[in-house]
Amino acid sequence: MTDNTIRFLLNDELIILENIDPNLTVLQYLRDIRFQSGTKEGCASGDCGACTVVLAELAGEEFNELNYKSANACILFVGSLHGKQLITVEHLKEGEALHPVQQAIVDFHGSQCGFCTPGFVMSSFALHKAVSSPDRAQVVEALAGNLCRCTGYRSIIDAAMASSADAAPDSFARHYHQTVAELKKIHLQSEAQLSASGHHFYSPTNIDQLANYLLAHPKATLLGGGTDLALSVTQQLNTIDKLVYLGNVKELNGLRETEESIIVGSAVPYSLFTPLLHQQYPELGEMIERIGSTQIRNNGTLGGNIGNASPIGDMPPALIALGATMTLRCGNSTREMPVEDYFKGYKVTDLAESEFIQDITIPKAKAGQECKVYKISKRIDDDISAVLAAISIEIEQDSVKNVSIAYGGMAAIPQRAAACEAALKGQPWTQTSIDAAKQALTQDFQPMSDVRASDKYRMTVAQNILQKCFFELQNRHVETRVVNYA
Ligand SMILES: Cc1cc2nc3c(=O)[nH]c(=O)nc-3n(C[C@H](O)[C@H](O)[C@H](O)COP(=O)(O)OP(=O)(O)OC[C@H]3O[C@@H](n4cnc5c(N)ncnc54)[C@H](O)[C@@H]3O)c2cc1C
Ligand code: FES
Ligand code: FES
Repeated sequence: MTDNTIRFLLNDELIILENIDPNLTVLQYLRDIRFQSGTKEGCASGDCGACTVVLAELAGEEFNELNYKSANACILFVGSLHGKQLITVEHLKEGEALHPVQQAIVDFHGSQCGFCTPGFVMSSFALHKAVSSPDRAQVVEALAGNLCRCTGYRSIIDAAMASSADAAPDSFARHYHQTVAELKKIHLQSEAQLSASGHHFYSPTNIDQLANYLLAHPKATLLGGGTDLALSVTQQLNTIDKLVYLGNVKELNGLRETEESIIVGSAVPYSLFTPLLHQQYPELGEMIERIGSTQIRNNGTLGGNIGNASPIGDMPPALIALGATMTLRCGNSTREMPVEDYFKGYKVTDLAESEFIQDITIPKAKAGQECKVYKISKRIDDDISAVLAAISIEIEQDSVKNVSIAYGGMAAIPQRAAACEAALKGQPWTQTSIDAAKQALTQDFQPMSDVRASDKYRMTVAQNILQKCFFELQNRHVETRVVNYA
């Protein structure tokens, strides 16, 4: 049965939304409709963290647990709140007593103009709920998506460190079971929708409902975390007629492992699939931890990164180099394809009408395989790549047995460096071979200049990455020999 409303908890109040334009963001809803102005607007593009809220969503086999995660309210469509608790900064205080994360900001002088403060408080709160006794690196990571122009970060980090050591149960812990029960009543089992001003939002709960809806509405827009899509509304002022939300489709939110591969549902956010990938490919795991911010990785999905087909999306080059494949579904039919074949031209893909990416299969690491990933951006955190290179290589007896190299930011699509690979495959792993590979790269790519980098910079850095990879693997090789001699 389809429910014509979106239902969620705003703090501890049950909200039933109907007749609201689904292009509305959570930030607009909070500030313009609810007049809750504690959540701030800085950039409206997911970059500054001033709008950070926390979502508690049902998790676990029996849906008896809550998963707390930070999110940028400015790029979250209101319909994606269905079945979740939206926690805002106004709700942290108990009576006159500040929540420990708020009190710590006061105690450590972590606020000057205060504009960024609610966002920092909410990111610290999400960390406080999700990780007990985090170390400094975890605190820095949790706060990397929040910008402050006044205070400097040390006092804020110190505050988050201090409050995270406070293990006393807060009001959220005391009301945990009640919140779970309230969210369960919202019937995540049933479809939900929202319509107004000729715009529709549909949230199916299983893959058949999704497939059937897309057959009936082939022009509908698939919505994962919305971390790309929402920008077309908040930055380019477009409106989207029909949104189909994938976040509640059970089959797209699964994560499976076989002996040979990891299978990631297209709607699984980065923060959930990264640990598994990290075990197989540590450098890839480290790179993913630099995609956007914690807020972005809590909501952005693998399907969205591929579906967006940006030439500077970070996952496609890595997936291509690793030989990942994906399953596409349309109606009752499915087809498999290498991720490499999905991209046809600038933002043009092989996705047919009514079709969607179901899941992505990533082969596990083989003995002797090295996966090197290099993300080149102006900042370490929360920055889009100028160039991204992924290199999967097997070196046996000092020569290159297998190699697969893919770049982002070098062409209109994420692409293999075929000439470069040919220059290396079967060749000795030497500086001469690397020089030939660097030269071959000029046959593979004629990069463009844009705000992130010039064509010359891109080519130079792409060649230097090959050199760096050579030195890194060479050094590892030398170290192994020293150990063997000893
Ligand atoms: C501040 C900020 C920083 C960012 N930093 C990075 C970064 O460092 N690296 C990076 O690569 N990206 C970055 N992004 C972009 C974005 O977060 C990622 O591309 C993310 O993976 C998109 O996933 P999503 O679920 O939010 O996609 P959505 O916005 O929901 O969708 C994106 C596109 O994919 C389509 N789509 C979604 N799911 C499917 C599916 N299952 N099948 C077919 N099509 C589908 C949608 O219709 C839409 O066209 C950043 C974005 C922001 C706002
Ligand atoms: S307002 Fe800047 S991230 Fe949302
Ligand atoms: S206190 Fe002013 S921006 Fe952070």
